[in-house]
Order: sequence, then C-alpha cells, then structure tokens
Amino acid sequence: MRFRIAALLAMPAAAQLFDSNNPEVHAAIEDHFKYGSIGAEDRAGVPLWIWKVLPDVFPQHLPSRPGNGYEKFGLIVEPGKSRPIGTSMRERRIPFVGLNCAVCHTGTIRDSPDGPRRIVMGMPAHQFDLQTYQRFLFACIRDPGFTPDRLLPAIEKANPNFSLIDKVAYRFAVIPQTRDQGIELARTFSWTFARPPTGPGRVDTFNPYKVLFGFDIEKDSSIGTADLPPLFDQKSREGLWLHWDGNNDSVSERTKSAAIGAGASERSLDIPAMKRVEDWIWTLPPPAFPAAKIDSARAAAGKPLYDRLCADCHASGGKRTGQTEPLENIGTDPERVNSFTAALTEKMNTLGSGRPWKFTHFRKTNGYANMPLSGVWLRAPYLHNGSVPTLRDLLEKPENRPRKFHRGHDVYDYAAVGFVSSGADAEREGFLVDTGRRGNGNQGHVYGTDLKAAEKAALLEYLKTL
Ligand code: HEC
Ligand code: HEC
Repeated sequence: MRFRIAALLAMPAAAQLFDSNNPEVHAAIEDHFKYGSIGAEDRAGVPLWIWKVLPDVFPQHLPSRPGNGYEKFGLIVEPGKSRPIGTSMRERRIPFVGLNCAVCHTGTIRDSPDGPRRIVMGMPAHQFDLQTYQRFLFACIRDPGFTPDRLLPAIEKANPNFSLIDKVAYRFAVIPQTRDQGIELARTFSWTFARPPTGPGRVDTFNPYKVLFGFDIEKDSSIGTADLPPLFDQKSREGLWLHWDGNNDSVSERTKSAAIGAGASERSLDIPAMKRVEDWIWTLPPPAFPAAKIDSARAAAGKPLYDRLCADCHASGGKRTGQTEPLENIGTDPERVNSFTAALTEKMNTLGSGRPWKFTHFRKTNGYANMPLSGVWLRAPYLHNGSVPTLRDLLEKPENRPRKFHRGHDVYDYAAVGFVSSGADAEREGFLVDTGRRGNGNQGHVYGTDLKAAEKAALLEYLKTL
C-alpha cells in the first residue's frame, strides 16, 4: 500500500525521487539509538541543509524556551555533535534529516537548576515538544522568506563545501519541492489546532493515523493526547496488553507502529536497523533511584501496602498486570482510549500487508492498561495523559491534585517523586497543563488515596525502589 498523504510528522521528503539510499550507521548501539536511521526520513524527512539553517533564518518562529536553535524544543544536543539526539540522517543523493525512537524516548534530569543535565536513554522525552517543533517547520515553510535567495546564503555559511551542483539542485528542485510539499502537508495537520496543545512530553498517538488512512478527521473531535512512556525492559512486556489503552500485546508491533508514527512508511521501514533497537530495549534496565535518597526502613514499611493495594495490577506476574482495566473501574480521562476507534483498529491491522511483519495484534479496548511500574520514578508526570505531576500527588484524592502545573522542566524533586512543576524556573522552561481542559483530566485512579499520611509516605518510599 502506498500512503495517500506524505507524512505524519514533519516535512515531506522528496526522498522518493532519489534512488540512492544510505542511512547513517553507527557501530555502538547507543549511538545507533540516538542518531541512527530507522527509515523515518521517507515521509518525514527534511533536506539536511535546509533543516540546519531554519533556526537562524527564521528565529521569529522559534519558541521562547531556553537554549539555542533546536534546543528550544527540548531537543538534546550533546557536546561536539552537529545534530540533536533523536535526529537521524539518510543520504538519498542529498541527505535528509528524520526522527528516530530517541527523540521521544530519551530524557534529561537535573538535580538543581544550575546542575549538569543527565541524559537518560529510554526514559520518556518529557522535555521534548514535538507539536511545537512541527509547527515551527510549517511556519518556516509558509514564510514568504522560504526562498533560495534567503536560504542559500545561510547554507553556504554553514557549509563552506556546499558545491555548485548542490546549489543548483537546492535552488531549482530541493527548496521549491520542500516548500510545495510542506504546505500541502501542513494542511493535513490543521486538525491539531482544533485541540488543546499537547506541550512537551506528550503526543496525540493515533489521530495522525486516521489522517494517514484517509479518515475525515474534521468530523472527528477526539483527543488522543498521550504521555510518552519509557522503553525499558521490553522483554518483561511481551505478551502484555500495552500501549496506554492496551491495544496491542506484541512488542514487535508496538515498535514498528512507532516507527511508522515517526515517519517511516511500510516500504521505507528499515527492519534491520529497527531490529537492533528492539534487541537493545529488550533488556535495557531503568536506572535506579539514587540509593542515598531512599529511607530503606520506611520503604520496607511501604512494601506490604504496595503488595496489598497495587501489586495485582502492576507487579510483574500480578493477576491483572498486562490486562486492561475498564474505564468504569479506573475512572481516568476517557479521551485517549476513545480516540482509538474500532474502525482505526481494523486499518492498523492492515499495515504491513504482504510483508512478513504484517500487523495482526491491534484490538479495540474500553479502558487503560495495568502496566509494570519498573523505573516508575522516571515515568513522571503520571497517568496516560501526564495529568498528575508527582507520585505524591497521585496518592492524593483527585480533588486535591494540582489543577494547573508546569511540565517539561527537568529539575527532579526526589521527595515528591516527579519533576519540579511550579515556581519561577518551571514556569520559564515548562508548559502550563490545565487539567480542566479536554484530554487533560486528572481524575480517577484513586488507589491508595485513603491511606493515612504516614502510610502514604511509606508507600511513596517503596515506589522509589521499583
Ligand atoms: C513521536 C514520538 C515517538 C517516537 C518517535 C517513538 N515513540 Fe514509542 N511511543 C510513543 C508514544 C506516545 C507511546 C504511547 C502510545 C500510546 O499508547 O498512546 C509509545 C509507546 C511505545 C512502546 C510501548 C510502551 C508501553 O509500555 O506501552 C514501545 C515499545 C515503543 N514506543 C517503542 C518505540 C521505538 C522502538 C521507537 C523507534 C522505532 C519509538 N517507540 C518511537 C511515542 C514515540
Ligand atoms: C485495578 C488495577 C490497579 C490498581 C489496583 C492500581 N493501579 Fe495504578 N494504574 C492502573 C491503570 C489502569 C493505570 C493507567 C491509568 C491511566 O493512565 O489512565 C495505572 C497507572 C498508574 C501509575 C501511572 C504510571 C505512569 O506511567 O504514568 C502509577 C504510578 C500507578 N498506577 C501506581 C499505583 C499504585 C501506587 C497503586 C497502589 C496504591 C496502584 N497503582 C493501584 C491500574 C491499577
């Protein structure tokens, strides 16, 4: 099947026009994960040299968050690297930049606003604002200044080796095509403006697929906002019904559908490159909560509470772990599960037709999955829509949980277990989540909220050890 529209995520690639196909390859799996290509340049690739200069040529379209250039979207730039983590490159006569798994599944933590950032591969990219990144690319493309006369001087400055042939190709083909296809693609994203913004660390997982399959998204008002999950220890998740709504029980399908979500097409999906990532996340352990910050006696007092109140649904091997809890029991915001419809389920199970990896595992559910909680401290903010900033807040009754807070700030609060979500720094760097808006509801999941204060403190301490 060839997709009807160009891409889910970013700008279209003229990639199909070019015959060569050389992905950037890294020997070390960590580098492959951070910078390697999974084939997503096909529908979501941007010609490298255009992509490089956009922040300099169009600073007026950048958001006001701290950092330089693409860092303003919460993308992570390592010292000495020319592109942020989560961006990949594929050479198809000209090089294209795409996105890979790490863009949504690598996060940062700091212990204080002046402290160094730690990069944690596999944790949710709670700081990365994909929606604002996409909107920036579209704003650049629609800008009257998106012309060879404006872009080429910036490109030549950035790359003194840009050849005459490159210049001609960019002037007469690459820049005009990128503009035309980008404007077309931007139209297919207009539905996102009819919904509350996601902010960093969240994406609408399945509504873009509806556009991909040609559903009339204008007639659909559902909101699929979902918090990014971690990728740790997938082996223990095989056979469990996961994704937030428990719509698929195959790790391999969950990873491949993610790559298609990131811009790969069935044809361009780089199966060997994906396999390397799949093998690595199969056993990738979550980093432990700093031992010095755990009161082990108190944690020991919390264990029986966890075993009694939580383990059935969350412990490895728990009676209901990996099953889906119906909405009427769990009581959390219904938007995400409702956005994944029966009609879409059928279409998801047609992806890969004629290929050995054809999807068969998608199903429609009416609730949210009881997921394993390993590394739970790095899953903040909590619940499928990231509507509760800390574990301490999650143990409060819904009416006592913060109604508004900031997310995307990466200073960690080791006592409340979650990221700092209020105060001047969080306001400057973060995005305001208003739990009163559709898709942001912080209700439900009332387990443990009746405990006494000392019991809650003990349970919280134990949760740090998971
Ligand atoms: C655009 C952001 C994005 C990219 C890129 C991305 N993912 Fe994800 N991933 C998500 C979101 C969002 C979910 C949760 C989906 C849901 O249930 O709504 C998810 C869920 C998953 C899950 C299931 C986790 C669980 O426990 O339920 C796996 C496994 C996964 N992704 C692997 C990958 C791999 C491997 C790649 C690269 C091929 C990748 N993802 C790329 C956003 C992304
Ligand atoms: C009946 C099953 C069930 C029980 C019992 C239960 N949970 Fe949950 N839990 C869920 C489901 C389902 C979700 C996902 C709900 C959502 O996101 O909308 C969830 C989500 C969570 C999350 C959020 C995970 C994330 O990545 O955001 C945490 C943390 C959590 N539970 C902790 C606990 C603790 C602690 C207890 C015991 C006091 C507990 N749960 C008891 C079913 C359960």
